[in-house]
Amino acid sequence: MEWTKEQRYRTMEDVSEDEIQALAKTVNQCPWRQSFHIQPVTGLLNDPNGFSYFNGEYHLFYQWFPLGPVHGLKHWYHTKSKDLVHWENVGMAIEPSNEFDRHGAYSGSGIEHDGKLYLMYTGNTRDEYWNRHPYQCLAVMNRDGSIVKMDTPVIAEVPSGYTDHFRDPKVWKNGDLFYSVIGAQRKNETGSVVLYRSRDLIDWQFAGEVKTGLGEEFGYMWECPDYFQLNGQGVLLFSPQGLKAEGDHYQNIYQSGYVIGSPIDLENNELKHGTFHELDRGFDFYAPQTTVDHQGRRILVGWMGLPEIDYPTDSNGWAHCLTLPRELKIIDGKLIQLPVPDLNLLRGKMVETSRSVENENVRLDHFEGDVYELLAEFSDSNAREFGVELRVGENEKTVIKYDAVEKKVVFDRTSSGESFAEEFGTIRKCTLDAEKISFRIFVDVSSVEVFVNDGVEVFTGRIFPDKNSNGISVFARGGHTNVKAVKWDIN
Ligand code: FRU
Repeated sequence: MEWTKEQRYRTMEDVSEDEIQALAKTVNQCPWRQSFHIQPVTGLLNDPNGFSYFNGEYHLFYQWFPLGPVHGLKHWYHTKSKDLVHWENVGMAIEPSNEFDRHGAYSGSGIEHDGKLYLMYTGNTRDEYWNRHPYQCLAVMNRDGSIVKMDTPVIAEVPSGYTDHFRDPKVWKNGDLFYSVIGAQRKNETGSVVLYRSRDLIDWQFAGEVKTGLGEEFGYMWECPDYFQLNGQGVLLFSPQGLKAEGDHYQNIYQSGYVIGSPIDLENNELKHGTFHELDRGFDFYAPQTTVDHQGRRILVGWMGLPEIDYPTDSNGWAHCLTLPRELKIIDGKLIQLPVPDLNLLRGKMVETSRSVENENVRLDHFEGDVYELLAEFSDSNAREFGVELRVGENEKTVIKYDAVEKKVVFDRTSSGESFAEEFGTIRKCTLDAEKISFRIFVDVSSVEVFVNDGVEVFTGRIFPDKNSNGISVFARGGHTNVKAVKWDIN
């Protein structure tokens, strides 16, 4: 179905309760609804927003178009959790309602101040010729969960030198001052991040562009920047658009990644850093956001999806989910990402096996399902390649393997089920030179998240298999390997 502009920009006031109920019914009949990931009740979810620990709970908002699986009028939807595992749908948080956000309450972040949660976001507006004008706006959440929007924007103008692609403020505090990075496009249509400073989160001063070593030629727009310190180092995370595919890199329509260096010099905005790394080597990952919790952990959540791609759930009136929360560490100049240990709470019935596999593909007895956690550890291998197959059915399988000749981890969704986004390829690979290979895999009804070798690489992808494709196999070709596999049902 083609959506007209009018349909995309209808407000909730124009929609009857019956229409919403009918949509919810279609959504709930979808065979690919997730079971332990945050997903929209109806419509489209995209970026995580306002991720924070406040008043004894984690709060995680997301970009939401309630009325269908398209990028229409964006709202903020609110979810919260005491343990990062069980999430409660709270409901609508920020509705576009005034002249500063009438075409969408776009992405932004949350920070606690004076006992309240300040939510800074981009108000997207369009004029009669559909020219964009972004405002940076503020909404304040009280301890009782009520949210009040400020009447006027806190940053009303785009600084000179930048286009109207200017959005996604991410706020942090350093000493007495608040800082915000904002994703920006220079007038010459190259991507960058700019910095603002404030004493009170209301009055903001433009501090200039963040000087990175990436030069003027690193994509045409940087969305959703995030800056934080970890282990005394500075990390800038952002989602650049317009990078060309290069070997195994940058295979998706848009990227998201980071650079690590010394903490940003807040006097002259300079960030001295190493190379740009992609955060996720899979298919469906974009616009991640981090927060630091009361235990001092730096936690990241991403959008398990990408813009401008049709997904098989579209025909059921919804699209996308968020990734599982990942805890970040820095080891050897790289971000290591592991599922937060809290996720062990989900572990139910366990089965395990240890065996050697040689030039064969073995379906594992008592290992099956469409929702589970699987740990597969390979050792003493001399095989050319070895790995696991998930969601195996008559004509379907999703393959996670190690190619020991090329020294690459491979995620192959060529035969995973209903196909989509095939123009971007159905295989993702990344180089990993290691003796031992382990895959910790979270399988939900329509997704796979693979944490390789304790989080040195992560592959995330949506898959849309038949509900009867439930088998799990291990295999080795051109030699043997030993595999220890443990599977937990997810409660
Ligand atoms: C990234 C993004 C942001 C924007 C939001 C709108 O996916 O394009 O830059 O704020 O989505 O939903």
